[in-house]
Amino acid sequence: MAQEFPWWKKTTIYQIYPRSYHDTQGDGIGDLPGIIEKLDYIQDLGFDTLWISPFFASPQRDWGYDVSGYRKIAPAYGTMDDVDRLIDEVHSRNMKVLFDLVLNHTSDQHPWFLTSSASRDNPKSDWYIWQDGQGKGRPPNNWKAIPGGSGWHYHPARDQWYYASFLPFQPDLNWRNPAVKKEMFQVAKFWLDKGVDGFRLDIFHAIYKAAHFQDNPFHWSFVPKDDEYGFFTEWKYTVSQPEAIDLAHALRQLLDSYSPERFLIGEIFAEDSLIKKYLGDENEGLQAIFLWDLMDFAFRADYFWEVLDHYETCYPEPYTPVLVLGNHDSRRWIDRIGGESAKAKLISLLQLTARGLPVIYYGEEIGLPEGNIPARDSLDPVGQRYAWAPNWLLDALNLYVNRDNCRTPMAWNSAMGAGFTAPGTAPWLPFSADPARANVKDQSEDPDSLLNWYRTLLQFRSKTPALQSGSLLLLPRVLARKGVLGFIRQSDSDQYQILINFTTKPITVDLPGAKIKVQTGKISHTGYKLTLGGQAGCIARLADHRK
Ligand code: NOJ
Repeated sequence: MAQEFPWWKKTTIYQIYPRSYHDTQGDGIGDLPGIIEKLDYIQDLGFDTLWISPFFASPQRDWGYDVSGYRKIAPAYGTMDDVDRLIDEVHSRNMKVLFDLVLNHTSDQHPWFLTSSASRDNPKSDWYIWQDGQGKGRPPNNWKAIPGGSGWHYHPARDQWYYASFLPFQPDLNWRNPAVKKEMFQVAKFWLDKGVDGFRLDIFHAIYKAAHFQDNPFHWSFVPKDDEYGFFTEWKYTVSQPEAIDLAHALRQLLDSYSPERFLIGEIFAEDSLIKKYLGDENEGLQAIFLWDLMDFAFRADYFWEVLDHYETCYPEPYTPVLVLGNHDSRRWIDRIGGESAKAKLISLLQLTARGLPVIYYGEEIGLPEGNIPARDSLDPVGQRYAWAPNWLLDALNLYVNRDNCRTPMAWNSAMGAGFTAPGTAPWLPFSADPARANVKDQSEDPDSLLNWYRTLLQFRSKTPALQSGSLLLLPRVLARKGVLGFIRQSDSDQYQILINFTTKPITVDLPGAKIKVQTGKISHTGYKLTLGGQAGCIARLADHRK
């Protein structure tokens, strides 16, 4: 009997940064009613799950990743009624919606922190990570923050230091306090009871810190890697403590008590062996965790071959590799390929046909370009920290610090305001390029556009079980070395071969008894031979192997 796959294994996720998606209130800031207005667009493209970055009460110093009220909505984005309506509207379209849960830290303006920081003796005194310093001006230990600098910040009212994994205004909650854990589970329940289909979990690996507060060991490396080390320390005691892995399992149990099935996807930076612990031996921990290898892609068949091979070896069933190329923290990948639509079509072909869970960041479907706002002008607090640094240095160190550039407003048309905001209203960030260059309206009308290519792929995927849940078999690496990435997806009912030529030259491969269902670029198919023109790719249905 065919194995039944849960919805989240077969879905495709579309990430929305609410501030930048669609403004209906005329203030230059995207909002929840704006997302509701665009649900038909998203559904028509073929996505069936949304992940929305935080829209909860917040002073917006890190644009919502600094929460000051977990059960409240930031007025700039709308009201609780809007959220209820959003959930209903999503469900009435048979779609799903994930919210972004920031469990590690709150804003320093959260009433819990205001109370906790006021004195050493108050009902919330132990809700954050407070320690005595080592004498005047000396923090408790050498623990660094993820974006650099000490993670410790002095607070005069307590004459103590609090720890913040990210920025100073984002104090870490003390999860070793049972009251904190209980309250955060209540927050999750609050939204699950409202019907949300799951959560993306922000910096999940940072949630617990070692209870002994010993110094992290020295590490020779300055440039951070996967939150394992950086700025000359190994982050041994500040991330991926055993309790974080237990928490992954406990949260999953909470979600499993709900029906229909809910879903957790973790933002975790760690090596594979740890990631698998968070996922659990039988995938009974977090259902999925972002894998970052595709973010750093080199435009070569062999690069992608290696990544897929690694995923098949390390994350076979019951695991579901997450296929993600961009998000609100990383350079838009279209820029890595010189804005070339032909190349983008090959990458999206791979992302939407390989085994895994594709997560697409808003704007990728039209090739929305990266902005070019220098760090010194950034609104992003991480960018501001590097205001002194020239671009060449940041590039040389491969440090992406001004995240404004990947968060610029969506371009819906080429009119003034780009359909994002009212004409004449200044958007919260400048458009990354003239909206005439890439926008939804123009691309909808062009059959060869990137947008219509995404539509074709998404729709083909949603009616093709082999692509949603079939096994993956990579064609031999020698082919990839020649420039063609090839793999087969196979389900009980069907078998498809995907071929992608990453070079600019035609390449011929053997392909007997196949029928091309989807293609980009020039392809000729005669008998047993298929020639892929330069930068061409296809999905071919193979003749029924069992007949
Ligand atoms: C990771 C989020 O993706 C990022 O945008 C945010 O600034 C940090 N976590 C802190 O919450």
